Amino acid sequence: MSLRIVRLRGSEIVARQDDLARLRIEVFRDWPYLYDGDREYEKGYIRTYVDATDSVLIAAFDGDRVVGASTALPMTQAMDACAAPFAAAGYDLERIFYFGESVLLKPYRGQGVGVRFFEEREAAALTHPGIDVTAFCAVERPSDHPLRPRDYVPLDAFWGRRGYVKHRELVARFRWRDIDQDRDTDKTLSFWLKRHSPR
Ligand SMILES: CC(C)(COP(=O)(O)OP(=O)(O)OC[C@H]1O[C@@H](n2cnc3c(N)ncnc32)[C@H](O)[C@@H]1OP(=O)(O)O)[C@@H](O)C(=O)NCCC(=O)NCCS
Repeated sequence: MSLRIVRLRGSEIVARQDDLARLRIEVFRDWPYLYDGDREYEKGYIRTYVDATDSVLIAAFDGDRVVGASTALPMTQAMDACAAPFAAAGYDLERIFYFGESVLLKPYRGQGVGVRFFEEREAAALTHPGIDVTAFCAVERPSDHPLRPRDYVPLDAFWGRRGYVKHRELVARFRWRDIDQDRDTDKTLSFWLKRHSPR
């Protein structure tokens, strides 16, 4: 199965915002996100990427259908919930590129698309002079959570092989409704960072 990987920028993302929302709602319904998709939240979330001058969306196409997507933008243009922990810890936000989600439909996994998402986002990040850190965050869940699938393989090793190191001291807080809850609850997401040689 060969997929076409396309890098879209800023305003080009508008045409794909419904695809991104669809993929986020479908893929993040599963463990560990358990996100009970909210179309209104998605509109506001995607607005950040559409409005940002230097955002990118990497889209994976099977024919003319988007089956995977991954986003990134300078930390200076990211939402406060992501930038604030770095500012509080004394990081220079100008040197950081923030990676949003990677979401790929199940039948397309394990063929290198997730690796491409990292390569494409890092390449986009490093076109910006002064960027030498790329970072993303991932939700923390208790290992004894009742909805954790027995056969779930965490992505930690996959991320480690991409050169990312977990920074437990850097956390973002988000709220969303889990599929087994009737209201939004607080979530803690830990950041993973990769340092690049300054250009
Ligand atoms: C994260 C996610 C996008 C990864 O996508 P993926 O396409 O399955 O990942 P890949 O196939 O690129 O990589 C998985 C492994 O297969 C390997 N692989 C298989 N075929 C490959 C190929 N043709 N080329 C390169 N690598 C290949 C990769 O090297 C990797 O192994 P490694 O870590 O030992 O190097 C996908 O699992 C997903 O959507 N998960 C749910 C959402 C989520 O949790 N997202 C992350 C937080 S936002």
